[in-house]
Amino acid sequence: MQNTKIAPTSTIEFEKEVFNGLTDYPKHLSSKYFYDKKGDKLFQDIMAMPTYYLTDCEYEILESNKEEITELFTGFGAFDLIELGAGDGKKTKILLKEFNDKNIDFSYVPIDISDNALNQLYNSLQKELPTVNVKPLQGAYFEALEEISYRKNRKIILFLGSNIGNLKHHQAVDFMKKIQELMQPDDLLFMGFDQKKNPQTILEAYNDQEGVTAAFNKNVLARINTELNGNFDLDQFLHWEVYNPETGSAKSYLVSKIEQTVRIEYLDLTINFKAWETIHTEISQKYDDEIINWLAKKSGLKMITAYQAKTFNYKNCVFKKS
Ligand code: AVI
Repeated sequence: MQNTKIAPTSTIEFEKEVFNGLTDYPKHLSSKYFYDKKGDKLFQDIMAMPTYYLTDCEYEILESNKEEITELFTGFGAFDLIELGAGDGKKTKILLKEFNDKNIDFSYVPIDISDNALNQLYNSLQKELPTVNVKPLQGAYFEALEEISYRKNRKIILFLGSNIGNLKHHQAVDFMKKIQELMQPDDLLFMGFDQKKNPQTILEAYNDQEGVTAAFNKNVLARINTELNGNFDLDQFLHWEVYNPETGSAKSYLVSKIEQTVRIEYLDLTINFKAWETIHTEISQKYDDEIINWLAKKSGLKMITAYQAKTFNYKNCVFKKS
């Protein structure tokens, strides 16, 4: 299967962001660079861990509300189910199977930057649900969404897994606003939001004993080593997670255990680390109703319904243009 391509993936952006992030004070790198073949696998392993409750919560919501969700999505004729950052599609398959069993007229349009992820998803769907009409789009979310916004079918846009939480609030508003601008009045946006909860539960989700999350966090350094000819010694950095229950932000850091110098040949860059100096790598925002309603209002959206998990505090919210 040849995925429809929107734009080639850029390594120049990676180089620029690594240079800017490591020469800034305090140092930072973006979590979007955790994901290569190895990072994708590590994230799949994280999602399978019981401490990472987010996956089970969303699975439970989709499984126990699939009939009501089907009713919400249907009734306007054929629709395109567009998923941003589809990954392995494990949770989405609950809905795909339900729609397929009920002979609903729809196409599934997974959008992902990774060709590899899309190919795996396409092949697994060919085996498990061969009658579902799948049209993968490889590219950045907005370019891809723009490309298909002219289609006459109603659009249902999925953004699952609390992926929105990896954006700061102002970035989340920009993101949701851009989606809103590409929506028609009957289109829906179906999003996952992890909620504030016992801080200990959150810390355990992002700091597993097996060290999978630590390896995932350090994968950005591993990528700099292989792709930009760097010499980070991964053992000299510590994965550190903090959660602020007031703001709801969980933050991941890499902390230098010693005073050290790192060289990135490709960027002709030498970086000095003091002992215990940090690199901020990821934010995983946790929400409450006030924050979600504020984000929606700022983005020109209104929430029409929400589903809540029974086990842990996690929500899937459905929005329309306001
Ligand atoms: C993809 N994203 C929503 C995950 C999260 O929960 O922030 C990535 C992750 N980072 C550490 N564990 C999982």
